[in-house]
Amino acid sequence: MSQRVAILLSGGGSNMVRLIESMTGDHPARPVLVLSNDPDAGGLAKARALGVETAAISHKAFKGDRPGFEAALSVPLAAARPDIICLAGFMRVLTADFVRQWQGRMLNIHPSLLPKYRGLNTHARAIEAGDAEAGCTVHEVTAELDDGPILGQARVPIQPGDSAESLAARVLAQEHCLYPAVLRRFAAGDRRPILLP
Ligand code: GAR
Repeated sequence: MSQRVAILLSGGGSNMVRLIESMTGDHPARPVLVLSNDPDAGGLAKARALGVETAAISHKAFKGDRPGFEAALSVPLAAARPDIICLAGFMRVLTADFVRQWQGRMLNIHPSLLPKYRGLNTHARAIEAGDAEAGCTVHEVTAELDDGPILGQARVPIQPGDSAESLAARVLAQEHCLYPAVLRRFAAGDRRPILLP
């Protein structure tokens, strides 16, 4: 029996596309839902074009009521019966209660070499700090923001003259390799970290 995967996103969904495209053939998982907090997220149309069911619950209607938003989010999520949730550019902070419900079954990709640069503006912060390298991390989601056991990391050099945008593009290309590789391994029950390149 395949593992059922729900993907949560807020934006264009390039990681989501790579994850969905990877789940074919002998892959141990299949996508069952793409869910967004933004009804206008570009990723929703891409998911539908790939034949995956979508749903959107706008967080704006909840005016800061996170538990209320998460209760609404949980309706399509429960209907899809996922075994694994992949956060892929999902830009809402989840409550500890919600995270606890899915702990051990929820992954996130973050555009830094955690534990460095939790939160936002990771690329600008790495350049500002004068770091020689940057990268991305896939980790299990725990109640602490951008924390939890690391399942994979990919590194890229920071080049002279890099802007946050040029570095983000270099990191994103690695995200597209790392996340599918980690999901395949995780869905097969193997939590050993993958280190790229
Ligand atoms: C990715 O770079 C992902 O690592 C980042 O958002 C981007 C989404 O791109 N996630 C975070 O910053 C989470 N805190 P995508 O929509 O094209 O996959």
